[in-house]
Amino acid sequence: MEERRLGPAVGLGTWGTFEADAGLAREVIGAALDAGCRLVDSSPMYGGAESAMSEIVRERRGEVTVATKIWARSVEEGREQYRKQRAWFGRVEVEQVHNLALWREHLPWLEQERDAGRIDRLGVTHYGEAAFDELAEALETQRFDTVQLPLNPRQRQAERRLLPRAAELGVAVIVMRPLGGAGSLIPPPPEEELAPLREFGIETWEQALLKWALSDERIDVVIPATRRWEHARTNAAAGSPPWFGVEERTLVERLAA
Ligand SMILES: NC(=O)c1ccc[n+]([C@@H]2O[C@H](COP(=O)([O-])OP(=O)(O)OC[C@H]3O[C@@H](n4cnc5c(N)ncnc54)[C@H](OP(=O)(O)O)[C@@H]3O)[C@@H](O)[C@H]2O)c1
Repeated sequence: MEERRLGPAVGLGTWGTFEADAGLAREVIGAALDAGCRLVDSSPMYGGAESAMSEIVRERRGEVTVATKIWARSVEEGREQYRKQRAWFGRVEVEQVHNLALWREHLPWLEQERDAGRIDRLGVTHYGEAAFDELAEALETQRFDTVQLPLNPRQRQAERRLLPRAAELGVAVIVMRPLGGAGSLIPPPPEEELAPLREFGIETWEQALLKWALSDERIDVVIPATRRWEHARTNAAAGSPPWFGVEERTLVERLAA
């Protein structure tokens, strides 16, 4: 189902980045957009990131795909989060149920919002392998358009357990922790090891990791998080072809091991 695809593209994660700093959000998101990045992922539990980014998103609204989340202990709380998001962003392109929290309860009202045209796609997320069975169960309902899951060369459980079915169902895949995750980044190899990847436009190790994921046809968007506009710019450059073949992906896996 090609029409459901969001990528292949590099997006931007916002966990542990802006806190409530609108100036920093402007700098980082501005650089990412200038470099061709479109999707910005956030959540009500990202320490004020949604409100911090609202100003720059409104200014450049036509260029941004807002992917945010509902993370609530009740439908009422979820609706309140959504009301704030509509005030900040006007509309939400990808509304995800964060960490599967009350996903069955939230689906009916979120579907109503999607049917009314105020949300484009509904998604579901989880960071933990222990939750993959429930994530698969949610996808089987065929009521979600996107799934967000962790994937990098050191964390590949989703390849077997979720990606095949997501591809069959036409569910777009958004990859969190593409660099290994804040606090557990996959360290760069000696620079000369990247030489075979130069002809694929690779200048940094982070670009190699991002292109590794995007070169799997089942992946739509990777969302590396950063507080540094320079990183936002160089990361975005990994979102264009040529894509890696088996040989290049195997090299990145070896260097990441
Ligand atoms: N739904 C969920 O349960 C869930 C869970 C985790 C994450 N997520 C989403 O996925 C996003 C990404 O995950 P993540 O933040 O855990 O992991 P990540 O993107 O793999 O790693 C983020 C770290 O990478 C560093 N980084 C980024 N670009 C870099 C570059 N070019 N060179 C060197 N370092 C670089 C950042 O530091 P600098 O600031 O120094 O660049 C940051 O510390 C989150 O922001 C969030 O949107 C969702």
